[in-house]
Order: sequence, then C-alpha cells, then structure tokens
Amino acid sequence: MMSPFFIILTLVSLLIHHSHTQPTCASQKFTNRILYDRCIDLPELGSYLHWSLDTVKNTVSIVFIAPPASPNGWISWAINPSGDGMVGSQALIGYKGFNGLMVVDTYNVSSYEDIIRGRLDFDVTDIKGENSDGVMRIFAKVDLPENGQTVVNQVWQVGGSVTEGGVPERHEFQPGNLGSKGSLDLLSGEISGGGDGGSKTKKRNIHGILNAVSWGILFPTGIMIARYLRTFPAADPAWFYIHGSLQVSAYAIGVAGWGTGMKLGSESKGVKYSGHRNIGIALFCLATLQVLAVFLRPKVGHKFRFYWNIYHHGTGYAVIILGILNIFKGLEILSPSSKWKLTYIIIISSLGVIAFVLEAFTWIVVFKRKSVNTSTKPNGTTDARP
Ligand code: HEM
Ligand SMILES: *[C@@H]1O[C@H](CO)[C@@H](O)[C@H](O)[C@H]1NC(C)=O
Repeated sequence: MMSPFFIILTLVSLLIHHSHTQPTCASQKFTNRILYDRCIDLPELGSYLHWSLDTVKNTVSIVFIAPPASPNGWISWAINPSGDGMVGSQALIGYKGFNGLMVVDTYNVSSYEDIIRGRLDFDVTDIKGENSDGVMRIFAKVDLPENGQTVVNQVWQVGGSVTEGGVPERHEFQPGNLGSKGSLDLLSGEISGGGDGGSKTKKRNIHGILNAVSWGILFPTGIMIARYLRTFPAADPAWFYIHGSLQVSAYAIGVAGWGTGMKLGSESKGVKYSGHRNIGIALFCLATLQVLAVFLRPKVGHKFRFYWNIYHHGTGYAVIILGILNIFKGLEILSPSSKWKLTYIIIISSLGVIAFVLEAFTWIVVFKRKSVNTSTKPNGTTDARP
C-alpha cells in the first residue's frame, strides 16, 4: 500500500530538485540557432548570460538577456578590467532605436557621470540586438582584455530611458541595481561577489529617515511651537522649554543623519551630488550656530536682545527652507518608491496648513488684544521666559 505513495513522493522530490539545479537559462533558445556552451541565471535584475569561450583566439561570444526597466529603456553588460563596479566598465548597451529596432553600442563608462559611446579597451565584434517578449538581448564577440585571463569582472544593469542622442539615462539605485556586479569565471561558469547593494541601500534609507525626521519634521514643528504657542499667555514659559527640547532633539538626530550622509559620500568615490552635499553642510553649520547662540543670548530687555532675536529667527527660517529643499533633493537621488515622497509631501503640507491656520488665528488674537488694550505689544514679545 505504501509503495505507490512513495514512488509519487520520490518523483515529486526529484522534480523539485531537478527544477532547482536546472537554471532557467538552459531553456532559452536563440533565433540565430547558435548554441552557446554555458549559461547562468545572473543573481540580480532578472537577467541571463550565455557564452562560448574560445581559448585559442582568446575571445568569448556572449548573449546578455534582461528586461529593461521600461519598454523604452536600456540594458547593459560590461567587463570591468580595472575595478569591480560601474566605474571603469567597458560596456555594451542596447536600447530601442527610433525605428523600433534594437541599437547596440559600446560605451566607455569612465565615471558615474561619463558614459561615452566609442571604443573600448578591447575589440568587440559581431554586435547585434533583439527586442521581444519584454526582454532585450545583446549579442557580441569580445576579445578578452588579457591573454589567458578567463576570470573577468562583470557588471550589468538596466535603465528606464535613453536621451534623444542615444545616451542611456540613470538607472535606479535599488539593491538589485547596486549589486549587479561580480567576478565571472568563463571556464568553470562560477560567479561570485556583488550583492552588497543591500547593505548600502539600508544605510541610505537610515540616512534619509534620520534627516527627514530631524530637518523635515522636528525643526519646523519646534519653530511653529515657538511662534504660535506663546500667543497664549498660559503657555508661557512652557512653550520655551518645549521649543528648546524639540530643537535640541532635532539637532541631535540631524547631526546623526548628517554624519551618515558624509560617510555615504566618502564611500561612493566619484559620485558627486554637490548640491545635496553643500546644502547638508550649510544646514549642519547653521544648526550648530543656532544651538551655540542660545548660550550667548543677551538677557530679556538688553538692547542687543532685539538683534539676537532677528538673528535667531532668520537662521531658524533658513534651516526650515534649506532642510525641506534638501529632503526633496535627497529623495530625488535615493529614488525610493514614490509612496515615501508622497508621505513626506503629506506630512509637510499638513504642517503647512496647521501653520497657516495658527498664523491667521494669531493675527486675530493680536488685533483683538490691541483693540481691548492698545498698550499690549503684538505677537512675539511676551517674553517671560528666563
Ligand atoms: C546612464 C547613466 C548612468 C548613471 C548616471 C549612473 C549612475 C550611477 C551612480 C551614481 C551609482 C552609484 C550609486 C551609489 O553609490 O549610491 C551607480 C552604481 C552602479 N551602476 Fe550606474 N549609472 C549609469 C549607467 C550604468 C551602466 C551603463 C551600468 C552597466 C555597465 C551601470 C552599472 C552600475 C552598477 C553595477 C552600480 C553599483 C556598483 C557601483 O557603485 O559601482 N550603470 N550608477
Ligand atoms: C575611457 O575613458 C578614460 C577616461 O576618460 C580614458 O582614460 C580611457 O583611455 C578611455 N578608454 C578608451 C578605450 O578610450
């Protein structure tokens, strides 16, 4: 009675096992009917590589298959003779041309900014492209950079758009896009490396969250408390302590976020987000001055207190404006899923609406007080705090 059950079980487990060891690429066929000796399912971006190595001529014929990030996007496979990442890659890039046919060209990727079409460090022939069933294919025959060197650093990538001049535009920086690299042993078919994009993405997300909470939420909220809570005589001097402790926490979190940003910047050699970086440094300086200035505050009633107030308020508003601006610049660079940007837009506009309502309310209160007692000073001068 047990035996048929066992046979079925064995068959099923064999099937499961078989489908695990048999790579998907093994079932891919090509219209040119060329059979390639080897293939692998690449670990990122749903892509595949097929190849035949000619150890006598020192060439390798490859097919790279990947789904572009959008139908009008691009795919790329490269050997990097000088490093293990994007910079230095000698790349083949394919995209859909004006007539809908695939265009494949060679590009010298000498930095994160310079993707220059033209000659590579090594010769590439028999270049061809195909586009069907949602995937693009690049065919080529590559003269291996060094004689007898059959282990190469490979880099691959997909992007969503191409300029009219035929230059691919920036790809996403998701874990898959940052981990699509590693060494490839053309003889044994073994691949390794890459995949460290995950930890980098984590670091970038931590950086983003710390800074958005600090500069983007806590600082503006603290300033709103200083501006609006003190309209109510009952909130004096409580508003001062709430304001102070909020700004100090915002500063602490902001400094942590700033530090992670500086570290990220120093880790991505050759990447320059100078705008984002410079605003970040300016924010750090302004906020540090702001915290230090509290200790140098002239007493209430001192003739310099007036100038100090102008300085303190001016710097505070500059921090809000630059902070929000830099969060949007950062979101642009990080390009997380759009819900994060939307979430921040909702938070900041809610704060904006609350500020607007309180502003109007403050003015009404101040005018009422004025008409009751003309000697009451307008908003901002109830100054009972220490
Ligand atoms: C088209 C314009 C391109 C731009 C503007 C661009 C920009 C960048 C930037 C700024 C990074 C670093 C992200 C970070 O460190 O946070 C990066 C990483 C990466 N890019 Fe590109 N890229 C482009 C094209 C390509 C192409 C054609 C390839 C394929 C050969 C590629 C493969 C990679 C890979 C594998 C990484 C992660 C590893 C590394 O940082 O080197 N990119 N890209
Ligand atoms: C690729 O660009 C780099 C930097 O501009 C340059 O040094 C190198 O010679 C270029 N490679 C080729 C094959 O032109």
